[in-house]
Amino acid sequence: MTTTHDSGTYRPPAPGRPDIRQRTLRTDRWWLPPLANALGLATFVVYATIRSLWGSAYYVEEYHYLSPFYSPCVSASCIPEASHLGQWFGEMPWFLPYALVSLPFLLGFRLTCYYYRKSYYRAFWSSPPACAVAEPHAKYSGETRFPLILQNAHRYFFYVAFAISILNTYDMVLAFQSTDPVTGETSFGLGLGTLLLLINVIGLWLYTLSCHSCRHITGGRLKHFSKHPVRYKLWTTLSKLNTRHMLFAWLTIGTLILTDFYVMLVASETISDLRIVN
Ligand code: FES
Repeated sequence: MTTTHDSGTYRPPAPGRPDIRQRTLRTDRWWLPPLANALGLATFVVYATIRSLWGSAYYVEEYHYLSPFYSPCVSASCIPEASHLGQWFGEMPWFLPYALVSLPFLLGFRLTCYYYRKSYYRAFWSSPPACAVAEPHAKYSGETRFPLILQNAHRYFFYVAFAISILNTYDMVLAFQSTDPVTGETSFGLGLGTLLLLINVIGLWLYTLSCHSCRHITGGRLKHFSKHPVRYKLWTTLSKLNTRHMLFAWLTIGTLILTDFYVMLVASETISDLRIVN
């Protein structure tokens, strides 16, 4: 027996599977999550691309605020004070981001993330668009062939992202200082920008540590948890975080945009930083 779906695609039912002729029997608004995901992810990609290539308003010298999209700033195009790790390259052409050494890895980390994969496969490729909704593609090879087999590199991106999270933490610690523009003296300082950088770093750590690869690194391939009590403890803790990975994925999209946007406003002198301790 053959089946024609309401999309017009001929699809014989697999052996032993029910012969359902509709694309889906769901009557709820199943299309809403993929639509919201598509809008959210597209907004982030557009914003991050524009800001990474903007080339200005990324550092507030007085309060040591460095936008996460510019860390580490290691080219001669960077403001010297923003180059916490020194300047390794000459001037950057306009089409390359100043944080060239970190952004490709962070992009790779997010693109290959288990959650984002589900999210953008559904949102942009309808593969499938939702649970119990047939996808339009006639063939399915999963992630067994090029290019999607490269998704397996996720664990390697994780190691680099972990190191970059340490760097973001260092940037955040530096933001607990303020430098007097007249005397040049540096002392403890705290402003709204510091708090945003702090919240962003906490979010980045939650996202990074709740990664499925991180969970596997700590507790995977163990035959006897009882022989590895420390790893078992770590694994159970990270497993709890892991259940919130989707939440942290979206939370960090929000905190990254918010932190960068605030630094941009203060750095461009559009607004003054709200100081709590000067
Ligand atoms: Fe999402 Fe690793 S960052 S699974």
